[in-house]
Amino acid sequence: MALRSLRLPRDLCKTLRLLHRTPLQNPNPYSPYSPSPSVASAYPSLLQWRSRSDAAPQIPIKESGEEGKGGSGSDSFASSLNPAEVAKFAAIAETWWDSEGPFKPLHLLNPSRISFIRSTLCRHFRRDPYSARPLEGLKIIDVGCGGGILSEPLARLGAAVTGIDAVEKNIKIARIHAASDPLTASIEYCCTTAEDLVRLNKQFDATIALEVIEHVADPSDFCRSLGALTAPGGATVISTINRTLRAYATAIVTAEHILNWLPKGTHEWSKFLTPEELVMILRRASFSVEEMAGVFYNPLTGEWSLSDDISVNYIAFGVKQAS
Ligand SMILES: C[S@@+](CC[C@H](N)C(=O)[O-])C[C@H]1O[C@@H](n2cnc3c(N)ncnc32)[C@H](O)[C@@H]1O
Repeated sequence: MALRSLRLPRDLCKTLRLLHRTPLQNPNPYSPYSPSPSVASAYPSLLQWRSRSDAAPQIPIKESGEEGKGGSGSDSFASSLNPAEVAKFAAIAETWWDSEGPFKPLHLLNPSRISFIRSTLCRHFRRDPYSARPLEGLKIIDVGCGGGILSEPLARLGAAVTGIDAVEKNIKIARIHAASDPLTASIEYCCTTAEDLVRLNKQFDATIALEVIEHVADPSDFCRSLGALTAPGGATVISTINRTLRAYATAIVTAEHILNWLPKGTHEWSKFLTPEELVMILRRASFSVEEMAGVFYNPLTGEWSLSDDISVNYIAFGVKQAS
C-alpha cells in the first residue's frame, strides 16, 4: 500500500526479484565477476564477451592500435544511442543550469567529481595539482556533456575541452553558457557520439564520461569507443551508479519518488553496473582501472564527498594501455 502510494515504476516486482538474486555489494571490485541474470538480459554483448572470457584463457581483446584508426575496423563501433534515454534528456534540456532543477544532484556532485578528476589526471600526467591551471595542454573530451557543467570547470583548469552530447538542445545551451566567460569560451561543443568521432579518427589525452554509461545502448560497446578515442597511455574517468539495493533505495526511490530531485523514470536499476562489471568492460576496452572512489551523500549536511563506499555512486579512473 505504502509502496503504491509512492507510484513506483510498473516493473517494481521484476526489479525486486532481480535484487533478490543479485549480491548487494561485492567489497572487492577486482574479484572475479559472476554473471547475474539482470545484466545478461539488459546487455547481450556483455554476456557475449563474458561467456568468451569464462570459456577460454585467451580472451580475444582488440589491440588498442586497431581501434579508432578508421578503415574497416572503425565500422565495428556500434551506436551508443538509446532513443528512449536521449528523449528523456531532450525533455529537460532547458534546466541544465538551474541548480535547483532536475540536475541539482549533478551540480552538488560536481566538486567531488572534479576533485577526483583533478587528482587522478595530475598524478597520471605528472602535473602540479596546486597550480592554477594544472590541466593546461591536455586534450580532454567530455562525452555526454549535457549543458556543460563539467566541461566548464575542466576548461578553467586549463584543459582544451571538447564536449559532445547526443541531444542538440544540450549542446546549444552549453555553447551559450560557455560563451559568457572567456575562460570557457574556447570549449568546442558538438552534437555527436563517441563512436562517430572514432570514425573520424579523433584521439584525446583523456576521455571522461560521467553519469552517461547507464543511459547508453550497450556499455561495453560504449567503452570500446572511449578506448579508441583515448590516446595510448592516456586516461579515462567514468562515473555511474552501482546495481545494489542501496542504490535502488537512494537513486530511484528517494531521488525520483520521494525528493522529486529527478523526473520519475530517469534511471533504470537494471542498467546500473557494478564496479566489477565496469572494471571488466574497461579491461576489454584496453583500460586498466587504477583508482576508484565512492561519492557519498550526507543527508544531514546535503553535501557529497569522496569516500571508500562504492555501494551507490562511484567514479573510476583507468589508464589506456600503451600500444
Ligand atoms: C545524466 S546526464 C550527465 C551529464 C554530464 N556528463 C554530467 O555528469 O554532468 C547524461 C547525458 O548523456 C547524454 N547521452 C545519453 N546517451 C548518449 C550517447 N549515446 N552519446 C552521447 N551522449 C549521450 C544525455 O543527453 C545527457 O546529457
